[in-house]
Amino acid sequence: MTEPAPSLQELEQLTAQALAAAREAATLSELEQVRIRFLGRKSRLSEILRSLPHLPPAQRADIGKRANELKASLDASLATRRQALAAAPAPPSLDVTLPGSAVVQGRLHPISQTIHAILSCFLPLGFEVVEGPEAEFEYYNFDALNIPRDHPSRESFDTFFLELPSSDPAKGRLLLRSHTSPVQIRVMESLKPPLRILVPGKVFRPDPLDASHSFMFHQVEGLMVDERTSFADLKGVLERFLKTLFGEATRARFRPHFFPFTEPSAEVDIACASCVGRGCSTCAQKGWLEIMGCGMVHPNVFKAVGYDPRRVQGFAFGMGVERIAMLQHGITDIRLFFENDLRFLEQF
Ligand code: DAH
Repeated sequence: MTEPAPSLQELEQLTAQALAAAREAATLSELEQVRIRFLGRKSRLSEILRSLPHLPPAQRADIGKRANELKASLDASLATRRQALAAAPAPPSLDVTLPGSAVVQGRLHPISQTIHAILSCFLPLGFEVVEGPEAEFEYYNFDALNIPRDHPSRESFDTFFLELPSSDPAKGRLLLRSHTSPVQIRVMESLKPPLRILVPGKVFRPDPLDASHSFMFHQVEGLMVDERTSFADLKGVLERFLKTLFGEATRARFRPHFFPFTEPSAEVDIACASCVGRGCSTCAQKGWLEIMGCGMVHPNVFKAVGYDPRRVQGFAFGMGVERIAMLQHGITDIRLFFENDLRFLEQF
């Protein structure tokens, strides 16, 4: 005999291989290959079975028994697997003519778009963008901005106070900032002049929701401080900004106003583009649209941050983003921005 003598160990290996191959066969024809390989006429098992009569009697019984067990269990496995494969659905074929699934392109919210448009008007003038916390200390929102406790001007910034213990009691209670101006203080406390910054962000006021008020809206704040910064610089920067944002034909006027943190202060209006100054519903018959507040930084604000008001001058301004976005797009109800209605949002 040329074949090696069969052993029980060989039969164990053969059993493991054969059962694994039967389990892994993925199609009926693969399964038939497994059957031929392990049970076919030329398979090692057939060889072993044929050699049984020539084996020494001591081995014959053991090897014969194990070889027949292997044959029986492989027959059973093949039958089970054959049934399972026959019942399984045909593998899906690839249809290359099916349309692909479209990737839906997202976009920025219209308020973010307007913030970006505002910021990019100032970047060529050397302004940098900074942000500050929405949960703010009373000190930064009011005191350091020259809005003293018990001063009636605090009432015009009606505020949400947070029922959280203040982490720094010397800076007063925690609140949701009612404007972005407190970031002026934070920046000046940590940087030396000269500086030019822009601060976009959310602000909060407990106003009842209606077509022009929301308890949350956005502002962009600006601050420039240098040794000599004049009201003429303020006018030049803001007129440039308004023309870049609303078009070169835009006319602006500076109307005296009061803000505690600036002196002198002004409100800036642009001529109503809808009626060219004649008066219409967009401008409430005034011919002018109020766009922003501004002024020269008050000496008390400089003192609060440790700047010497005799050595530095600066201007500041603040604007409401929703109002500007509403003018840009002819939107008459601020609530549309916050309802997440895709029929509205997809227009921008
Ligand atoms: N903080 C003001 C507000 O919320 C807006 C403002 C006005 C900001 C004048 C300024 C400024 O920096 O100089 O109504």
